[in-house]
Amino acid sequence: MPISIRPLTPAFGAEITHVDLTRPLDAATFAEVENAFETYSVLVFPKQNLTDESQITFSSRFGALETTQGHIANNFQVKQISEISNLDPSGKLMAADDPRLIYRIGQRNWHSDSSFKRVPAKASLLHARRLPPNSNECGQTQFASLRAAYDALPESRKREIENMAAIHHYAYSRRNTGIQLTNEEEDKRFPPVPQALVRANPVNGRKALYVGSHASHIRELPEEQGRALLAELLEHATREAFTYMHHWQVGDLVMYDNRAALHRARPYAITEHARILHRTTVAGAGPTVQ
Ligand SMILES: [Fe+2]
Repeated sequence: MPISIRPLTPAFGAEITHVDLTRPLDAATFAEVENAFETYSVLVFPKQNLTDESQITFSSRFGALETTQGHIANNFQVKQISEISNLDPSGKLMAADDPRLIYRIGQRNWHSDSSFKRVPAKASLLHARRLPPNSNECGQTQFASLRAAYDALPESRKREIENMAAIHHYAYSRRNTGIQLTNEEEDKRFPPVPQALVRANPVNGRKALYVGSHASHIRELPEEQGRALLAELLEHATREAFTYMHHWQVGDLVMYDNRAALHRARPYAITEHARILHRTTVAGAGPTVQ
């Protein structure tokens, strides 16, 4: 039985059914899934009973996986799965002032994963393991299509920004949350990096407006002018018409293309209900600017 692909919005996103990701996919089926990923940017696979091992196996088909850095958000472990959880290692809900929860506030800003790294992530895959009881308050994840955003820009704007680079900086975006979320060691590990403002997909050539909250200013413009332009472009890119809100169900695997989509975490009663997602991240092919 061929896989079934149902578009989620007119702009992007598709639900994929009739596929079992707990077992290795044959080459033809994987090619269909990979093609859907390059086409739709966000793929939702409902009811996938994945283990960490099967999630890693499927994710690895798309490229080498990033490993988690020893970081406060993952209890300083280095591995291919990072656990997004509001439980401490003993299984208790974290307190509201726990630094690991405060870190999450930054993820409520629109971003593309690791755009602050010289080689940003290609794709991220989130698997829902445990969720709050009400699916309307489950900590939804919202996505925005950077291709739809690019396509809707006036031609003059497209020409103006074609060869520009935005400077992405982790410490900059984290300071914007109003809380000191980075330490000196992280500031050193993630210095400001340039990223192409317009990125073309290597397979189908579709262009994306590569903005997000890690972008601080524009290399080719005075700092304040670049910052104002980035704010304008981010607002444009996240207009409702270009977005999809995912309401999680346990077992959902959601895969998103960081080259072509932004995402943000929506708030929920984080100190009241356990919520655990397991994430794998596919590394990017290379820097976006030389
Ligand atoms: Fe993220």
